[in-house]
Amino acid sequence: MLPTPNPRVIYAKVPGPGPLVAGEHLVYESAPTIDLDAPLRGGFLTKTLLLSPEPFMRERLRDPSIFTYSTPMVVGQPCRRRLRAGASPSFGEGGRQSQRLYVLYGFTPWEHYSVQPYVDARFDFASANYPSYTFDMDSMLLRPVPDPHGAFPWSRFASVLGMPGLTAFVGLESVAPDMKAYVFSGASGVGSMVVQSCKAKGLRVIASGSADSKVDFIRSLGADVAFNYKTTILASVLAEHGPLDYYWDNACGAISEYNAPAEDCYGVKTLALVFKRRLRIQGFLVSDGMSALLPRFLAEVPVLLAQGKLKSEEQLFVGLEKGIEAFLSLYDGTSKGKPVVVVDEAYA
Ligand SMILES: NC(=O)c1ccc[n+]([C@@H]2O[C@H](COP(=O)([O-])OP(=O)(O)OC[C@H]3O[C@@H](n4cnc5c(N)ncnc54)[C@H](OP(=O)(O)O)[C@@H]3O)[C@@H](O)[C@H]2O)c1
Repeated sequence: MLPTPNPRVIYAKVPGPGPLVAGEHLVYESAPTIDLDAPLRGGFLTKTLLLSPEPFMRERLRDPSIFTYSTPMVVGQPCRRRLRAGASPSFGEGGRQSQRLYVLYGFTPWEHYSVQPYVDARFDFASANYPSYTFDMDSMLLRPVPDPHGAFPWSRFASVLGMPGLTAFVGLESVAPDMKAYVFSGASGVGSMVVQSCKAKGLRVIASGSADSKVDFIRSLGADVAFNYKTTILASVLAEHGPLDYYWDNACGAISEYNAPAEDCYGVKTLALVFKRRLRIQGFLVSDGMSALLPRFLAEVPVLLAQGKLKSEEQLFVGLEKGIEAFLSLYDGTSKGKPVVVVDEAYA
């Protein structure tokens, strides 16, 4: 068979602190090809349909000698697992004979076609001697997902049914209906799911966003109080509608500092209040609760979505060549809804 074009996005160079540069740290390559009839040697072929960049992937682009909660990407390889596949079909499990199609969800290289598992781009976690709190991102599997048969678009697997929805599902396990919650950046991918999940659990919800359009969206999600934190004094809103039992922080100490050197990060200036007000601060990774909660998530959330009970917004970037732009939009405040890179338009 003639070689088939197989464009990809390469992680080309380790960045320092500061914004990523398209064409330097991340490079789109249009020239690669693939022979779709080549032996699969026990693997299986996937075609990428949708990709969804996530804020945490910035931290995976680093010098591997820097230890943190995630394993790093491998320079010179496609952006494996740094950019997630919304879904990808497999052309024949274990060989060309079966020709059965599955739609899969999970981490995959940013290229049109991949032979899975893509071991060349896998970070050697076993030899790296990382601390026990590090999660081997490359250990995540591709899983089959059900066909929504038109009940909702496939792009929902990047938002409500993807990492953002699952994060809210895992993180809200401990809340109770009589609580009052404040959600910072309530219009974000995760924040919008937190607002809706809190309301579904019976909580009273206060949420904020940085623009009036975001505030309107937050209101449409059912928040009891929604406000623009750039034009309203946060403390006065909380004084009027508080006190709070629960605060979900989507941005501070995380996305707003992903590009910053450690010395420029803010730190918590009011730590003494933790004991004075008997506060409990809990960090978590979505992967912590994933294996226990994923079956319940997949049983409950697609049904709610098909019934129109969950809302989400996605911003579609059509074509893998738009992938870097979609990824960078996460860090300059220009993203409008969950960015989704549409690689196969039949699945937009
Ligand atoms: N622990 C976990 O397992 C886990 C899993 C998924 C995500 N997360 C983290 O949760 C956070 C939210 O994720 P997401 O998917 O909701 O992100 P997102 O959809 O990209 O939204 C992030 C929001 O943060 C706000 N923001 C404030 N400062 C910002 C800055 N300097 N640059 C960009 N955005 C800024 C923006 O909302 P406003 O304009 O309204 O301020 C933006 O919409 C991220 O830090 C992500 O890494 C953690």
